[in-house]
Amino acid sequence: MEALKGVRILDMTHVQAGPTCSQLLAWMGADVIKFENPQGDATRGQLRDVPNADSLYFTMLNCNKRSITVNMKSAEGKQVFTDLLRKCDMIMENFGPGVLDRFGFPWEKIREINPKIVMGSIKGFGSSGPYADFKAYENVAQAMGGAMSTTGVPDGPPFVTGAQIGDSGTGLHLAIGLLAALRQAERTGKGQYVEVAMMDGVMNLCRVKFRDHQRLTRGDMPEYSVPTYKGMGEVPRAGNDSGGGQLGNAIHCKPHGANDWIYIVVQEAVWDALAKRIGPELGMPGLATDARFATIGERRKNQQLMWTLINKFAEKYSKREFMEILNPIDVPCGPIMSTEDLANDEHVRGRQMWVELDHPQRGKWWNVGMPIKLSDSPAVIKRSPVLGEHTEEILREVLGYDQNKISSLKTAGALSAPPKKAA
Ligand SMILES: CC(C)(COP(=O)(O)OP(=O)(O)OC[C@H]1O[C@@H](n2cnc3c(N)ncnc32)[C@H](O)[C@@H]1OP(=O)(O)O)[C@@H](O)C(=O)NCCC(=O)NCCS
Repeated sequence: MEALKGVRILDMTHVQAGPTCSQLLAWMGADVIKFENPQGDATRGQLRDVPNADSLYFTMLNCNKRSITVNMKSAEGKQVFTDLLRKCDMIMENFGPGVLDRFGFPWEKIREINPKIVMGSIKGFGSSGPYADFKAYENVAQAMGGAMSTTGVPDGPPFVTGAQIGDSGTGLHLAIGLLAALRQAERTGKGQYVEVAMMDGVMNLCRVKFRDHQRLTRGDMPEYSVPTYKGMGEVPRAGNDSGGGQLGNAIHCKPHGANDWIYIVVQEAVWDALAKRIGPELGMPGLATDARFATIGERRKNQQLMWTLINKFAEKYSKREFMEILNPIDVPCGPIMSTEDLANDEHVRGRQMWVELDHPQRGKWWNVGMPIKLSDSPAVIKRSPVLGEHTEEILREVLGYDQNKISSLKTAGALSAPPKKAA
C-alpha cells in the first residue's frame, strides 16, 4: 500500500517550489488536489514546446495530481474552498506575500474551519523580517541565500547552480516539515502552520560555506586552491575545489569537449595507489614517494602541480575510460554527465529515474523519476492532469455535491475565469 494513502492535500501551489513538494507527496500516495486559478498554473503555458499542450515545465512537476479549477474571487468559489478545507489533511501554497489574506483566508481562519489541518507555506523570505513582503524566484533565492557568492571562479562573476536549490530545494524542506506536522496532528488532533522561506532553505544547503566563513576568523583554509587568509571575511568562490576535507577537482579528458570532464577526489587513503597508477605513464615512476606529495599537507600546498599532472594523464583517456581506471583503485570519481548522457544511462533507467509517460495533449514525454525509494510502497508515476480535468469528479466524490449544485456553481462562475470586460 502507498505510504500516504488516505492523506488528502489541498494543493494551491504553483510554478516550481510548491509543486515539487506536492508531487513528491503524491508519489508517496497522497491524494493531491491541485486547486487552480481558472486560468491555470501559469507554467502550463510557459516555455511551451508543443502548441496548445501543457508545457514540460508543468507536466514534470504535477504528476499524480487531480486538477480542479475554482475562482477564489467569487463567493461561491470561496465556499467550495471552505468545503474542501474540511475534507483535507493538509493545505499548501506558495503565493506571493498576502494573497491568501486577500482571499479572506489567513491561517487563523483556516485553522478555525479545520483545527486538524496542517498548512504549508513557501515564501521567498518568510512571513517576518524586513524582506517579508518581497516576491522571489529561484535565482533570487540563490543570490540571497549565499549560493551565488560562493559559486564560480574567484576572479569571475557569481554564478547560479543548475540544480534548483531555491525552488525544488525549498519544496523538499517543506515536505519534511509537513510530514512531521501531520504526524503531530494525528497524535494531538491539532494542525499547525509550516513555513519554509526559500532564502532559509538555500542557507541550509550552503551550511559548509558558513563553516568556512567562521574558520576564516581563525586562519586560512589550506584546502582551497585560491588564496585565503585570517580575517578575510567573505568565503571566496573556489571553482571546482572539493569543499570538504579531501582535495578534489574537475579534470579535462579526451576528446576535450564541453562535458568531457571527470570529477576526482584525491582522498588521503588513495594517493599511493593513484600515484603508482599514473606516475609511470607520466614518466614519473617515483611519484608515490615524491616528497612534494607525500602527505596531505604537502599535496594541499602543491595541489596545482598535482592537478596539472592528473590532467596530463587524462589527455589520453575519455571520462568513461578514466573512470574505469580509477574505480578499481577506489578513487572516488564521477564523469561530468550531460543531460544527454543521463537520459541514456543504463543505471539511471534501471533505477526508474528517467520515466516515459503519455499525455493526451503532448503524446510521449519523459519525467525524472522518484528519487526516494520506499521498499514496500514504490512510486507509480502517472501523468499530470489537464486543466480542470477532475473538477466535477472532486465536487461529486470529495464534497458530495449533486448535479444541480454543480450546475449552479458553473452558472455563478465559481469554476471559471470571469469573462474579459469589453475595452
Ligand atoms: C512566484 C511568484 C513570484 C509569482 O508571482 P505572481 O505571478 O505575481 O503570483 P502571486 O502568487 O503573487 O499572485 C497570484 C495571483 O493569482 C490569484 N489567484 C491564485 N489562485 C486563484 C484562484 N483560484 N482564483 C482566483 N485568483 C487566484 C491571486 O489572487 C493573485 O492575484 P492578486 O495579486 O490579484 O491577489 C510569487 O507567487 C511568490 O513570490 N511566491 C512565493 C515564493 C515562491 O514560491 N517562489 C518560487 C516560485 S517557483
